[in-house]
Amino acid sequence: MALSYYYIFPFYCFLLITTISTNNTLAKTTFHPKTLFLAVKKDPISLQHISEIQQRTPLVPLKLSIHLAGDSVWVDCEKGYNSSSYKAAHCKSSQCKLASTTLCGDCLVGLVERGPGCNKDGCYNTIENPLVQILTRGEIARDVLTIKSISGSFVGPVATIPNYIFSCAGSYVTQDLGKDVKGTIGFGHQSAVSLPVQLASAFKFTRKFAICLSSSTERNGIIFIGNSPYLFNGGFNASRDLIYTPILTSPYDVVRDKKISEYYITVSSISINGKNVPINKTLLSLEKQGGTSISTGLPYTMLASSIYKAVTEAFVNEMPKEVRSVAPVEPFTTCFNSRDIGMSRLGFNAPEINIGLHKKNMHWTITGANSLVKVNEDAVCLAFVERLTRDWGEAIIIGTYQMQDNLVEFDISRRRIGFSNSLFFRQTMCSNQNYT
Ligand SMILES: *[C@@H]1O[C@H](CO)[C@@H](O)[C@H](O)[C@H]1NC(C)=O
Ligand SMILES: *[C@@H]1O[C@H](CO)[C@@H](O)[C@H](O)[C@H]1NC(C)=O
Ligand SMILES: *[C@@H]1O[C@H](CO)[C@@H](O)[C@H](O)[C@H]1NC(C)=O
Repeated sequence: MALSYYYIFPFYCFLLITTISTNNTLAKTTFHPKTLFLAVKKDPISLQHISEIQQRTPLVPLKLSIHLAGDSVWVDCEKGYNSSSYKAAHCKSSQCKLASTTLCGDCLVGLVERGPGCNKDGCYNTIENPLVQILTRGEIARDVLTIKSISGSFVGPVATIPNYIFSCAGSYVTQDLGKDVKGTIGFGHQSAVSLPVQLASAFKFTRKFAICLSSSTERNGIIFIGNSPYLFNGGFNASRDLIYTPILTSPYDVVRDKKISEYYITVSSISINGKNVPINKTLLSLEKQGGTSISTGLPYTMLASSIYKAVTEAFVNEMPKEVRSVAPVEPFTTCFNSRDIGMSRLGFNAPEINIGLHKKNMHWTITGANSLVKVNEDAVCLAFVERLTRDWGEAIIIGTYQMQDNLVEFDISRRRIGFSNSLFFRQTMCSNQNYT
């Protein structure tokens, strides 16, 4: 177990380290939905996408931020956790095993168990706040969780999981996630207790989910969990449009002591208006410590400096000559006079960006709605940011602005990701469904 400097143990005290193995028992339920869903809303300040889940007895609505690469649902158990159905997991139990915990121990504050998040003989998994890069430990516990289901084009009954396995965190881990946000929902593929994997196991449906983020902070987007199709108003079936690329094998992470739950894909090229942007291919390779991942924590796609420079240069060259440049507005460097840019049903008129995937002629298309952002009355900026904090790691991290009003399916069972392209091509958008 490698502990890096940014592990912090605020009130936990680990007495023993044990290897754990027992058999596997998950939630038992009576109602068997095929698809569940979450409404998602963008927080205007943190720009995080926030959802709500009901948990505990009596049920409490909890605002949680979406964390694509997270291994579990974690919530603040330090403040206001009051539930008659809360059960801490005991070391060597099946819940500890499922959550891939490697640490067991007693948590005592002044010789007494504190309650939720701090018990005797508990087990702990790694949890993180992706925004402030806190990596710490959460106590594994079980409690009631409910989530709404889908029945055809309508909202179905609420599904209840009596013994949903989650992690308990200290209040400080929630910092910067957004107003009243009490934790995160992990959608990671290398964990048996991430939300889609645990729900699939409880309800015997496909390990699959699809994210459709709304571009508006007023109207909700949706995350479908379980079986497709993904139906929008007017009978549009987004399952038909998906272009698939494989989820790459995760590297082993020494800090987390496990395989990373991050979703890595192959990006082989970037072209703008059909012209290839010159990119150093080493940066695009995951094996060579570069590569591409998808993140729900980043509001705008982040590019390694040399890629960022090449993309902005090519984009400016392809912009019509009458569009004037204006002073940059942080965090962007390339901005245009908003009066010079027209609009169409695909958003701002902008050069088309094609992200080449694992096969030739297979690409994800980014149009003006996802490549340009209006920052004030006068300026519209290229909605990509330069990776300035480090010069290693993923060269491309796809952020949420580029995913808005696209449906992106994460099929964990078949190890592939499907992109719909902008739903504006289909005269619809992520908020244009009956469910949220
Ligand atoms: C916790 O819940 C119980 C019963 O549901 C209630 O009687 C009690 O007042 C609650 N305590 C707090 C601190 O909310
Ligand atoms: C939606 O499209 C998928 C993929 O083409 C198809 O298998 C499914 O039957 C369609 N469902 C509906 C309800 O139209
Ligand atoms: C490409 O990137 C790699 C990794 O950053 C670097 O070592 C190499 O020198 C670069 N090649 C060129 C031609 O710039």
